[in-house]
Amino acid sequence: MRYSDDLIEEIRMKNDIVDVISGYVKLQRKGSSYFGLCPFHNEKSPSFSVSPGKQMYYCFGCGAGGNVFTFLMEYENFTFPEALEMLADRAGVELPKLEYSKEAKEQADLKSALLQINKEAAKFYYYQLRQKVGEQGMAYLKGRELSDETINKFGLGYSDKFSNNLYRYLKGKGYSDDLLRQSGLFNVDEKRGMYDKFWNRVIYPIMDVNNRVIGFGGRVMGDAKPKYLNSPETKIFDKSRNLYGLNMARSSRKKNLIICEGYMDVISMHQAGFNNAVASLGTALTSQQASLLKRYTDEVLIIYDSDEAGVKAALRAIPMLKTAGLSTKVINLRPYKDPDEFIKNMGKEAFQERLDHGMNSFMYELKALEGQYDMEDPQGRTDFFKETAKRLLRFEDELERSSYIKTIARTYQVEPEELRKMVNRLAMKGAGMTETVKPKSGQNRNKEKQNGYEVSQKLMLTWLTSYPEIFGEVSRYIGPDDFTRPLYHQVAELLYEQYRQGEPNPARLLNQFTDSEEQTEVAAVFNATIPLDSEQEREQALLDVICRMKEDSIAHRTEHLVPTDMQGLMQLMQAKKELEELKAGKLHLHISFR
Ligand code: UTP
Ligand code: MN
Repeated sequence: MRYSDDLIEEIRMKNDIVDVISGYVKLQRKGSSYFGLCPFHNEKSPSFSVSPGKQMYYCFGCGAGGNVFTFLMEYENFTFPEALEMLADRAGVELPKLEYSKEAKEQADLKSALLQINKEAAKFYYYQLRQKVGEQGMAYLKGRELSDETINKFGLGYSDKFSNNLYRYLKGKGYSDDLLRQSGLFNVDEKRGMYDKFWNRVIYPIMDVNNRVIGFGGRVMGDAKPKYLNSPETKIFDKSRNLYGLNMARSSRKKNLIICEGYMDVISMHQAGFNNAVASLGTALTSQQASLLKRYTDEVLIIYDSDEAGVKAALRAIPMLKTAGLSTKVINLRPYKDPDEFIKNMGKEAFQERLDHGMNSFMYELKALEGQYDMEDPQGRTDFFKETAKRLLRFEDELERSSYIKTIARTYQVEPEELRKMVNRLAMKGAGMTETVKPKSGQNRNKEKQNGYEVSQKLMLTWLTSYPEIFGEVSRYIGPDDFTRPLYHQVAELLYEQYRQGEPNPARLLNQFTDSEEQTEVAAVFNATIPLDSEQEREQALLDVICRMKEDSIAHRTEHLVPTDMQGLMQLMQAKKELEELKAGKLHLHISFR
C-alpha cells in the first residue's frame, strides 16, 4: 500500500524546490544557491539556503533541512502522503488509486459518505445561524463577544427548535436511513422514528487536522441540561485521536500549543490572537492526543479551569504529555475561571503575561502534593520531602535533577545538600529506579567519542554528495559498512548504489525516508560543514576523516567479530594494515576537490 519509488521521484522532479519554496519564503540568489529568512526559526539575517543543484534546502541556523517533500511536511505540517498528494496535484500528475481489499474499499466508501453527510450538516447549520430562525443563536454568540469573522472562521452554526429539519434536509439529498443512523446526528426511537440529535443549540463543527468535519458539539440555549451535547463516536469520529482547533493551531507557528477545556475557550483565545489553542473533546486528555500534539510541537501549555476538576485534569495530563516527549507548563488563571473569562476581564497582554509565566509541570505536581501534608509539622514536612526525593529519582539526567533540587530547595526552604543526600540514600536503597543514579563513569566519555565518529561519517556523506569526483578514490578505502551509525549506514548504502547506477541524487535518496525526523537528519547529513580554506586543508581533512572512520569501523568490527569467522578476521587484518599505511603516508590519496 505504497506508491512506487519511481512515481515518488517523478513527482519530486516535477516540482522544482526553488519554485515551491519561493511560494512561502522570499529567496535571493547568491552564487549557486538561494538564501532567505528561515521559516522554521526566528532570525534577522538569512541563513536558510535552497540549492537548485541538490534540490534540497538547509538552514545553517537551526539545522532544518530536506527536499521538497520535507519542506511541505515541516511547513504545512503535512504527513508524507499529504505532501505527495499536494505536489502531484501541483505538477498535474495523477496518483493511481492504491489497491484496496474489498472490505477496505467498503470501509473507505462508508467513511467518505459519512464525511459528506457531516459536511452537508455543517452547511445546513451554518446557513440556519445566518437566517431569521437563527436569531437567538446569533444573539447568544454576539453576547459572548464573538466577532463575525470568528463566527465564520470556526464555521459556527445553529440548529433550530424543530427537531427533524436536518433529517428532512438530508433525506431530500438522498441519503439512506442506514447511513444517516451511522452519522451519529440522529436519535432513533420506536415512537418517533429518526429525529435530529441537536436542536435549539449553537453548533460547533469539529474538524480533523485536514479541515474535514468529523463531528459536532452543540451548546444549548439557556440553562437546559446537558449544557453541551457532542456527536457520539462514529466511523469517522474518534474522540481520543482528535483535538478541537488543531486544524488551525497546527500552522500557528508559535513555539508551543495550548491545551484547554472547551470550545469557547479555544474560540476566544483564537479571537484574541492566541491561535495555538486546542481542546480535547469533552473528555480527559488521552495518550493518543498527547502523541498527536507531539507531531506539531515540543511544548504544551495546560490551561484548564481553575477549579478542583481542572487541577485534577492537569495532574492526569502531565505524565501523559511527558511520556509523549513533551515538556509541559501549567498556566494559572486565578482569580478567573477559564481563558474566556480571563481575557474578557484582563485583556490580551495580561493573558500573554500568564502564558509567559507558566509553572513547570514538576513543580506543579509538587505543589499539589504539598496539599496532602501538614507542612507545619516536622514529620509532615519530612514525609513530603521523602516523597519529593522519590520523584526526583525519575530524572535520569543528573544535571536536570540537580537543578530541580536547587529550585525545590529555594521554594520550600530546605538545604539543597539535605535533599540531595535524601535522594542518594533512596537511590542506594533501590527505591525508585536505582540505576538512574550512576557515577559519572566511562559512559559519558564513550558517547563523546562516538559523536566524533558520527561527525566524520556525516562529513564524508556531505563530501560524497558535493564532490562526485572524489567517489572513485574514496570508495577504495571506505564502503557503506564503514558507516557504523545505522542511519548513516542506510544513507551510505543508497548513495553508493546511486553511484553504481550513475550519479548521486541526494534529493531522491531522501524519498526513502518518509518519517519527518529522519528526513531532517538525513538532510543535515548532506550539509555538514567545516571551514576549510585551501585545497590542501581539505585534502588533509579528507585523509583524517578516512582514517577516523576506518579506526571506528575496525573497532566496531572487532567487537562484533565471531571467533570462527576466518574471512572476517582476514578482512579485519587487511583493513588494519591499510589504515597503518595510510597513517604512515605510504598510501597516497589521489584526490583533488574541484
Ligand atoms: P465548561 O462547562 O467549562 O464549558 O465545560 P464552557 O466552555 O466554559 O461553557 P460555557 O459555554 O462558557 O458556559 C468545558 C468543556 O467540557 C465539555 C465541552 O467540550 C465544554 O466546552 N462539556 C461540558 C461537555 O462535553 N458536556 C457538558 O455538559 C459540559
Ligand atoms: Mn469553562
